[in-house]
Amino acid sequence: MILAFDTSCDDTSVACFVDSNNYSNIVSSQNEIHKKYGGIMPEMAARKHIENISYLTKEALDKIGVGLSDVDIVATTVGPGLLPSLLVGVSFAKGLAYANRKKILPINHIEGHLFAPFFDKKLTFPFMALIVSGGHTHLFLVKGIGRYELVGKTLDDAVGEAFDKVARILDIGYPGGPVIDKLSKTGNPNRFNIPMGLDKKKTLDFSFSGTKTFVKNLVNKHPNLSKTDIYDIAASFQKSSIDILWKKSLKACEEYNVDVLAVSGGVSANSYLRESFLNKSIKSGIKLLLPSKEMTTDNALMIAFVAHLKEEFATFDYNAVEANPRLKFY
Ligand SMILES: Nc1ncnc2c1ncn2[C@@H]1O[C@H](COP(=O)(O)OP(=O)(O)OP(=O)(O)O)[C@@H](O)[C@H]1O
Ligand SMILES: [Mg+2]
Repeated sequence: MILAFDTSCDDTSVACFVDSNNYSNIVSSQNEIHKKYGGIMPEMAARKHIENISYLTKEALDKIGVGLSDVDIVATTVGPGLLPSLLVGVSFAKGLAYANRKKILPINHIEGHLFAPFFDKKLTFPFMALIVSGGHTHLFLVKGIGRYELVGKTLDDAVGEAFDKVARILDIGYPGGPVIDKLSKTGNPNRFNIPMGLDKKKTLDFSFSGTKTFVKNLVNKHPNLSKTDIYDIAASFQKSSIDILWKKSLKACEEYNVDVLAVSGGVSANSYLRESFLNKSIKSGIKLLLPSKEMTTDNALMIAFVAHLKEEFATFDYNAVEANPRLKFY
């Protein structure tokens, strides 16, 4: 059994994994705390992780009726992320593993997102992975576990970051992604022709800063926007940014001759993305894999799942497990 922790950013999460039918995944969101600042305050996030982590661990174990004695491996996200936040999960995991003589396994948070779509599905290689989150908009050709080739990435903002910034420009709430998703349902996505970054270029890279600036200029030029205007801008922005994700993903699949696309990260929760990617993938003969909604944004179950895939690497070398906010894996 694997007990996993993720405190890479603002959510505290603890998961227990026995198999894909027997698990728990507890996520304590800090959105209410950071809302009033319009972004995450790292030191506050870390302090909240400290308050929560112990009782969330008990909750995760209790939920599937197991105890610490049943744990074989303790897994923890070691990076990338916010250092104060990472330190809480890493220190707690190390202390718990040491005190209970359990093996420990450090996990890369982005690797967690990458494999989340395969949680209850058969894992086959190669596949194209699109990771769309608050910090990443990356396309990887995945040839095996630990064999990742970066084929495209954002040159500026991540797509989730663009959602958050546009929501701030429109003053519609935090975090921006879920709010834009909700408001877009009543907006007209075809009213504004919002440009798609690097659309006409051959590259598989992305750019969202122009898209965001376009919205900013639109709002500055029209200070008295009605609710309908705001919903239409939100829907048009969402369509433009999600459509370019599909275009580049399809291009990547064609260029690298793969027919499986696995999409993950917080933005893969987006309802327009889920619906349009599904429709377009059927038409293009691509097998699309999406994580369950609970495994899109940060959660410890995705960390436990990677730990399960890599369990032969777990050791008693607690000193080798350290937080690294800039951890790379490609
Ligand atoms: N329904 C949604 N539609 C669009 N974006 C969404 C939705 N739900 C969440 N997001 C966005 O997903 C992002 C959070 O995702 P996630 O938790 O995976 O990112 P992160 O952990 O901050 O970044 P990273 O994983 O790159 O370090 C936020 O930018 C949020 O606005
Ligand atoms: Mg994340």
